[in-house]
Amino acid sequence: MILVFLGPPGAGKGTQAKILEDRFGYRQISTGDILRRNRAEKTPLGLEAQEYMDAGKLVPDDLIIRMTEAELANAENVIVDGFPRTIPQAEAFDALLERKGLSAVAVIFDVDQGVLIERITGRWSNPRTGRVYHVKFNPPRVAGIDDDDGGPLVQRADDAADVVTKRLAEYAEKTAPLIAHYEKHGDFVHVNGLGEIGAVTQAIVAKLPGVGISRPS
Ligand code: AP5
Repeated sequence: MILVFLGPPGAGKGTQAKILEDRFGYRQISTGDILRRNRAEKTPLGLEAQEYMDAGKLVPDDLIIRMTEAELANAENVIVDGFPRTIPQAEAFDALLERKGLSAVAVIFDVDQGVLIERITGRWSNPRTGRVYHVKFNPPRVAGIDDDDGGPLVQRADDAADVVTKRLAEYAEKTAPLIAHYEKHGDFVHVNGLGEIGAVTQAIVAKLPGVGISRPS
């Protein structure tokens, strides 16, 4: 099964992708994590992407489409987290799936804008694995330390309040129209992203029973 997680910054896409990865053996393909790794390694892609990310803007479609097609060479049992994010990206993704004879289900996270700022500004994450925590809603056992690998947690530079405001505006203008795209052209489910983390996982599995019978990890 190929799942496309669609929702605004802070909706819980990365959190749920990691849970389904751990529990059911999915592979998370997070375009944000791939870009951040490229930045840390100072690759040409990372260097080109950084000015957009720091400004809270989307990275240009051609860069993202090339990067994601390479990642999707093996697209079985994946969760695509953060892609597509524009109509041109969605069209490129649809064409790629068609070439491969595959189909995807969009999981649309319904959340109120009001919860997003608190979620994002309280987020700490592991830059090596992308695992995320929250000071209040999902704290690590020891503050600032990843439960899994014991490494330090960091706050993302683009989680500063002024950049978050720009990311939310980019989402509203360029990504939210994808909801109508999937409702019209594809398979989709809506999930209430406002509940507790475990309740959101349960809602995904309830709406998509096939998720829970994917490869066991
Ligand atoms: P990216 O890294 O993809 O960021 P995003 O989409 O803005 O999403 P977030 O990571 O902020 O949120 P999330 O939904 O994963 O929430 P999370 O689970 O962490 O993109 C970053 C940048 O890269 C973009 O701005 C752009 O520049 C570039 N980029 C990436 N993809 C691109 C593309 N396709 N095209 C162009 N540019 C691209 O949760 C947030 C917090 O809330 C956490 O602390 C978590 O613990 C907590 N939380 C989660 N769920 C709950 C819950 N149910 N209740 C309470 N707290 C919760």
